[in-house]
Amino acid sequence: MASVHVRVPATTANLGPGFDALGLALDLWNEAEFTHRADGRIIVQVRGEGAGSLPMDQHNAIAAAALTVFSQAGQAPPGMQIDCLNRIPLGSGLGSSAAAVLTGMLGANALLGNPFNNDQILAWAIQTEGHPDNVAPALLGGLVVSVTEGERVLARKLTPRADRPPMFITLILPEMDFPTHQARAALPSQVSHKAAVFNIGRAVLTCEALLTGDLDLLGVAMEDQLHQPYRLPLIPGAQAALAGARQAGASAAALSGAGPSLVAFSAKKDPAIGRSMAGAFQAAGVSTRLFHLKPSEAGAQVNEGLGNGD
Ligand code: HSE
Repeated sequence: MASVHVRVPATTANLGPGFDALGLALDLWNEAEFTHRADGRIIVQVRGEGAGSLPMDQHNAIAAAALTVFSQAGQAPPGMQIDCLNRIPLGSGLGSSAAAVLTGMLGANALLGNPFNNDQILAWAIQTEGHPDNVAPALLGGLVVSVTEGERVLARKLTPRADRPPMFITLILPEMDFPTHQARAALPSQVSHKAAVFNIGRAVLTCEALLTGDLDLLGVAMEDQLHQPYRLPLIPGAQAALAGARQAGASAAALSGAGPSLVAFSAKKDPAIGRSMAGAFQAAGVSTRLFHLKPSEAGAQVNEGLGNGD
């Protein structure tokens, strides 16, 4: 059996006004190597983020996603070892769960000889995740807009301008538990017409700003009335950290996905932005981790190597 190597990037979803619709791939990658196990067992080894806490058997999210694909193909899963190197922090708002689901599905599809195309993998991954805005950019790379039409999800990668200047992203992760289901439960079931109008134009302008690298425009566009007002108060220090990022020179800042991390955009890598955000969280008694990231135009990658002899 061939071995398969899969890399999937982190993603930041929502991007302010684009709740459940916009997502951007980031240059921070999880990797996994799938190899055959003659004893028929499914074993997952984890290095990096989640080592020691993630399940090491078929209950691991990567293994479970792989099993979905084998079952869709009508095939009994082979014995597999999945060696993971995780760089995306778990439960952070950086799409670690979307990355795990895609890793498992892409790995299994490659082991099966690629019977399924990317659209099918995307549909299953979105079904598993429940929303498309991390999965779609993790698979396609870059800035992706997703819309749901009944059962169907349409995801389109938008092409950046060739002369887009570099953009830098300071991501701060407060060390607290704020799972997506809790962040979603905080949202009202209805929103006002005014809030919807506030977001519509800004979501379009956010795309334009990210595609052209117009960070002044991003500063105006990356505001939200659909989810951040309900979530930020549940993350101690987050509101002050967003303001702190802007004061320290970031052009725009937002909650990353459902949180708890925040993303701040700037024209250059600037440690002052991270320091300012970290200070705001510290004042609220919350410790943090900082990441300096860039957008990634590349999405998930699968490499099929030679096997381990069988
Ligand atoms: N768009 C979803 C949310 C998930 O905000 O709840 C983002 O990771």
